Amino acid sequence: MKKLVVASILTATLTAGAAIAASHGADPIATRKNGMQGVGLAMGTLAAMAKGEAPFNEKSALSALKLMNYVAATFEQHFPEGSNSGGDTTAAPKIWEDMAGFKAAVAKLQTDTAAAIEAAPASAEALGPIMGSVGGNCKSCHESFRVKK
Ligand code: HEC
Repeated sequence: MKKLVVASILTATLTAGAAIAASHGADPIATRKNGMQGVGLAMGTLAAMAKGEAPFNEKSALSALKLMNYVAATFEQHFPEGSNSGGDTTAAPKIWEDMAGFKAAVAKLQTDTAAAIEAAPASAEALGPIMGSVGGNCKSCHESFRVKK
């Protein structure tokens, strides 16, 4: 019963995440933050299933990966000159100093999520390696390109 409740919350969360992530507004800071919020929710969904806190659901797993891949596909477009401050951003100045390095990190998230979609995880166990490959991107990019507040 508890698992069922968690599962329906996860589905609702993921749906909300997709809606937030897709809302490309005029404000680049809000747009990229919304995208990352979606990525965070997607990763939470996968983690819950990988740990057995929620029942594995093939469709949810694939949706979560696709959501992250979708955000990665356009993420770098939301860092125009002048969007390095304001809007409560935690984007580090290093993004604009090393745009090539930042774009490479975005491309890696895209490649790793694409590979995970291709692998089509069919069990909670299959999510383990994906948590490692896709999840590794979060820390490495945040450490280089995000400031702690
Ligand atoms: C290519 C770099 C990169 C990768 C990879 C990346 N992030 Fe981020 N993330 C950022 C940046 C830059 C910000 C800060 C955006 C801002 O505040 O303007 C951010 C912010 C966030 C936020 C805060 C959003 C907000 O509302 O302020 C969350 C949550 C987040 N990331 C989750 C994740 C997770 C989970 C992953 C791994 C699946 C991940 N990110 C991978 C660059 C990245």
